[in-house]
Amino acid sequence: MKEYKVVILGPGGVGKSALTVQFISGKFVEKYDPTVEDFYRKEIEVDGFPAILEILDTAGTEQFASMRDLYIKNGQGFIIVYSLTSKQSFNDSKLIREQILRVKGTEKVPIVLAANKCDIVGPQREVTTEEGFNLANEWCVPYIETSAKNSTIVNCLFTEIVKEMNLK
Ligand code: GTP
Ligand code: MG
Repeated sequence: MKEYKVVILGPGGVGKSALTVQFISGKFVEKYDPTVEDFYRKEIEVDGFPAILEILDTAGTEQFASMRDLYIKNGQGFIIVYSLTSKQSFNDSKLIREQILRVKGTEKVPIVLAANKCDIVGPQREVTTEEGFNLANEWCVPYIETSAKNSTIVNCLFTEIVKEMNLK
């Protein structure tokens, strides 16, 4: 059975763990507990084929940024997460993508851009759909607005990275 090594990258507090836990166990984690490193495995079906996902949920905190090169080296597909409520996280996602391309030494890397916390609307929202969509277009990668509260969207996100990994 085909295995897919997926790494979840993004700055601190954007919802990497909440998305991963929603995907793995169907629950929304309300509490913010900064990650050091968590590993999960889950089997799903994509386009009629079984896929074993090996998911590495990484630390966004800069304190652990030095680990990122190694995670990127070992990973095959990357979900870059930012929060729609943080322009800073949106800008940081560009640096993370540059790091991925640098470590992999190629532009042909399966990446999905996830704009998380789309359930939050109003003045807290700092990044528009257009900005996210344009960035993903520039990178030639799929753009998905996610909410870790919505299991359907979260399942789509992980299906999408598998599809990208089948393509690239
Ligand atoms: P680090 O592990 O420090 O890198 O952070 P993280 O990216 O894993 O963030 P985490 O998943 O722990 O979420 C941080 C906070 O944001 C938590 O309180 C979550 O409940 C909340 N959160 C995550 N995703 C969403 C979302 O889609 N919507 C809302 N409203 N809150 C979210
Ligand atoms: Mg986390």
